[in-house]
Order: sequence, then C-alpha cells, then structure tokens
Amino acid sequence: MNEAFSRYQFSIYLWYCYCVEQLLSSLGPVCAVIGAQWGDEGKGKAIDLLAEHFDVIARACGGANAGHTIVVKGKKHVFRLLPSGCLHEGKAIVLGAGMVIHLPTLLEEIQLLRDSGIDIVDRLYISPAAHIVFDFHKEIDGVLEERRTKAVGQGIGTTRKGIGPAYMDKAMRAGIRMESLLGASVMWKEMLNKKAIDTKTMFGVRIDIEKECEQLYTAQKLLKKRIVDVSWMLVTEFLHTGKKILMEGAQATLLDIDHGTYPYVTSSSTTVAGALQGLGLAPKHLTSVIGVAKAYCTRVGSGEFETEVEGDIGDRLRKRGGEYGSVTGRPRRCGWLSIPDLKRTALINGFDCWNITKLDVLDTEDTIPIGVNMDAKGMVTYTNLPGWKTSTVGITSFEKLPVEAQNLIRFIETETKTSIKLIGTGQGREEMIVRT
Ligand code: IMP
Repeated sequence: MNEAFSRYQFSIYLWYCYCVEQLLSSLGPVCAVIGAQWGDEGKGKAIDLLAEHFDVIARACGGANAGHTIVVKGKKHVFRLLPSGCLHEGKAIVLGAGMVIHLPTLLEEIQLLRDSGIDIVDRLYISPAAHIVFDFHKEIDGVLEERRTKAVGQGIGTTRKGIGPAYMDKAMRAGIRMESLLGASVMWKEMLNKKAIDTKTMFGVRIDIEKECEQLYTAQKLLKKRIVDVSWMLVTEFLHTGKKILMEGAQATLLDIDHGTYPYVTSSSTTVAGALQGLGLAPKHLTSVIGVAKAYCTRVGSGEFETEVEGDIGDRLRKRGGEYGSVTGRPRRCGWLSIPDLKRTALINGFDCWNITKLDVLDTEDTIPIGVNMDAKGMVTYTNLPGWKTSTVGITSFEKLPVEAQNLIRFIETETKTSIKLIGTGQGREEMIVRT
C-alpha cells in the first residue's frame, strides 16, 4: 500500500517536473513577471519557482513601496528593495536605473540576509542612474498627503516611503543618483545644501544634512564597487554568454503612472515596457511575459475599485487571503475579479500566459461573481459562477480541482484569450498547479 502510494506520489512529482520544464522552455531566456491588478498579487511565488532556473534576477522600477515576504530559515522577512529571487544562491541581482533606492533600507536588507548566512553583495549590480530616496523625501511624502487630504478630503494613500517625491526630483532633473556614491563626499554636502533651500520653502521640510551624508558614507563603503552599467552588463556579460534573465515586476499595471487609475497610482512605470526601460534592456531581447492576478482582487490606498465588496464578504476575503499590506500593515480593500481590467492589462503588457494566485481563498464561497463588463459610469455587470465549497489547498494538478474551479479557470482564459499556466493553491511554494 505504502509502496503503491509513494509510486503514485513519485509519478505526480515527475509530471510536475515535466510541466515546469515545458513552461520554462516556452518562456525563453528573458522573462518578465508583471502584476495585473493593484499590486500584492503574490508575484513572489512564481518568481520563487522560476528563479531557480534563471541566472539573473532583475528589478527595474519603484522602491521600498514594494513588499514581499520572504522566509529565511523559517523566519519571515519583508523585503522592499531586493528582488525576492535574491535568496537563490549564486544568482546575479540587478537593481535597474528606473528604481528609487532608500539606502538604509537596502543596507538593512543586505544585513538581514547576512545574519541568515546569505551574502549577496558580490552578486549585486546597481545602476548608477538609479535615484536615491532620502529621509527628507519620506517627510515630503507625508506633507503632500496631508495637503491633498486638506484640499480634496483624501490623500492618495501612499506608502509614505518617499517614492513620489524622489520621482518628482528625478523628473525635475534635480535628483541625486547612485552614481554620486562614486564621487567625493564634499559633493554630497554641496548637493544637499542646494536642495535644502527648495525643500524648506516648498514643503517646510528641513534636511538633516549631516545624517543624510553619514548614510551616504555608510552605503558608499559597502556598495561603491557594486555600481556598474547595468544595461551593458545585462547584454554583454549575461545574455551574450547564454545566461537567462528574470525581470521581477514591482507594484502592478493598474498602479502605473501612465496606464493606471491616475491620480491614484504610484509614480513609476509598472508595465513590462516600464521594466525594459528601467533596465535599459532593448525590447527585442524579451521572450515572454507572465501576468499575475489574484482569483479575486485587492487594493491598498485610495482610488476607484469598481468590483470592491464591503461588509461580511469583503471581510471574509480579507481574512481568508491574509490581505494586510506587507509594507504598511493596512487592511487591503477586497473585491471580485474584474475581467475588463484583466483584458486591459493583458493588452498593455502582451501577456503570454497568466499566473492566477490564491484560488483556494475562494474555497468557501457559494457563488463567485466575476465582473465581466463595466460601463462609462463604472457600473459593473457580473457573471455568477458556482463555487465548489471544498478545499483546493495544495492541489498540484488541474484535473484534481473541483469541476467548478476548473470552470472558473477556463472562464478567465476564454474571456481574456490568454492561457493560465500557473495556479496558486496555497501559501507553500509547492502549492501550485503548473499546466502545459
Ligand atoms: P506610493 O507608491 O507610496 O507613492 O503609493 C501610491 C499608491 O500605490 C498607494 O495607493 C499605495 O498603496 C500603492 N502602492 C505602492 N506600492 C504598492 C505595492 O507594492 N503594492 C500595493 N500597492 C502599492
């Protein structure tokens, strides 16, 4: 009996490995994983699965507003700047020019990994063109949120990590970039002194120049040698030598500064095009894009969310999905899947396939409404699919899913005209269906 059981388990495992192989060969050497909703789709799990098979893990845009939980030796850590794939030994880690980097946060993350016996410094490559987020940017973020709240009754609900103000400086061509760590410290004082005047008059924020210089100095000691021309490295050192690149998207398409629900968006480009731009990687190198969406939907911060549900149902989704912000701890707004949003994000990013995450969160629902149409006023028409009322946790083969869950997956595929290759069925890294 036992032997028969283990033979059965082994054959399932072999089938799983075959499916992963098939998926990998379809992805090619440069793959991007991009969020399709308002962030927190659970991109980390697909990245964890794929990272093992890629040589370079790259983050292109955004900053410490992102948050992914990583378990290191049984201990949970929330990482904000380093890509979640960095835990895989020997992989090169790239932080692209489109990023805004808060240096104390980056140093803290590096140290956390060191404490767990993982040293990433020698395989870290940071673009000199990435901008530095200073503590005064965080203060300005707070001031701007308060001003918005006074003016229109609500802020954007930013993470207050200084993201908007750092990108403001970048767009004003007044930012301080990682390349400044290659120069002498007297330059820093000069730059910050100039900045201090504007910051005080425009926002009433004082810059603690001594403290900021000290932070730059600490970072310089560790990171100076890690600042390199990332675009050149990606092509000549990696692609031309047969290495594979995994681009780890941060935030998600509906938060994109151009294509998202403006003004309730982040300040960076969160699409695949933004990732290529942020890394300085020519589009011709890209071989695949995986779109990641939850089987329902969440959002943190303000802004439209037409399929949002409040009350008991919203609370249930929040509780079952553990929907609390990993950066801010804020409860996430919860609601149903929106097909028009998925169609739009698939169009913008050219998704080759989907990773639908957290299917198991819907296990207890009687019916599952899916938003299928949205009029100009934001009124949603729903199709109600029957629920399956049984646990799908840990299921690793599509055929083993209840027929109603299979139908939900097929429904999304038909509506979005994009196949679903990965389906999350639980928190564990192996709780995933991989389809050929
Ligand atoms: P900011 O990026 O901190 O300026 O915040 C702007 C908006 O984007 C707010 O609604 C944030 O909650 C949201 N946001 C930024 N980063 C993330 C993320 O990683 N996940 C989910 N929402 C995010």
